[in-house]
Amino acid sequence: MTIKRLRKAVFPVAGLGTRFLPATKAMPKEMLTVVDKPLIQYAVEEALEAGIEQIIFVTGRGKSSLEDHFDISYELEATMRARGKSIEIIESIRQRPGSPVYVRQQEPLGLGHAVWCAREIVGDEPFAVLLPDELMVGGFMKQMAEAYAKTGGNVIGALEVPDSETDKYGVISPGGRFDDRTVEVTALVEKPKLGTAPSNLMIPGRYILQPEVMRILERQEKGAGGEIQLTDAMAQLIGVQPFHAFTFDGERYDCGDKAGYIQANLALALARDDIGPAVRDFARGLLG
Ligand code: UTP
Repeated sequence: MTIKRLRKAVFPVAGLGTRFLPATKAMPKEMLTVVDKPLIQYAVEEALEAGIEQIIFVTGRGKSSLEDHFDISYELEATMRARGKSIEIIESIRQRPGSPVYVRQQEPLGLGHAVWCAREIVGDEPFAVLLPDELMVGGFMKQMAEAYAKTGGNVIGALEVPDSETDKYGVISPGGRFDDRTVEVTALVEKPKLGTAPSNLMIPGRYILQPEVMRILERQEKGAGGEIQLTDAMAQLIGVQPFHAFTFDGERYDCGDKAGYIQANLALALARDDIGPAVRDFARGLLG
């Protein structure tokens, strides 16, 4: 089996972010900041660290601030230069993702549909999908890409959760072990009733997929929530192509959810040398 190199990543950012209203009425959810960086930048950096060369954003109406974020900001840069200020922090953003490609999802018909919108740019290559509202600390995509280089086929992320929480997530039904972090997938079960989950491995928003999934998405009917679901399409690849799950041991913050977003801000702020001590003192005082 020849394993094609992973070069491309799709970032679906066309969702409406209804769980985060009113913040997301006029601003994309993916531009919400954790400490001082928007969520989308964390996800792009995670992909670049994994050796991804082509960044593909699936955007929608009202997402132009996201495009601006990865573009040159002439006025800002010129003014900062004139004032003798370093522009390193903004220069690095526009240079690192090379030339991102933007495609439009005209209607938010679901994650599966958003991924399908990138089919022409993805072409006949494996590709990664990263959902930017899930912030991963610890280089998840890099580790997944390393696993993919050994297994080929499809590799999805997996995270251990307590048994009492498996009913909230898509869960993996595990088959044979490939190595201590990588397991074959025999089925994907959406939100199993408590006590019936085939494992305690939930599926976070990180995937490495083969281009054949695009052809399945082309015909995919609407599933749960009236949306075209990526999980339904991926499930059809199981047993047809190699399909593994890679367990991540870092941290995941669900920043599409208000509590998860606050947790991410707190955890990342506490970990910083510059602001960490002050935030820690404040939090201690607040909690008495
Ligand atoms: P979510 O379901 O978490 O995002 O999708 P959402 O629909 O924006 O949020 P809520 O539930 O209404 O609050 C995960 C990712 O998939 C993208 C979203 O932008 C988000 O990054 N997405 C979702 C699309 O690009 N298109 C869609 O049709 C749906």
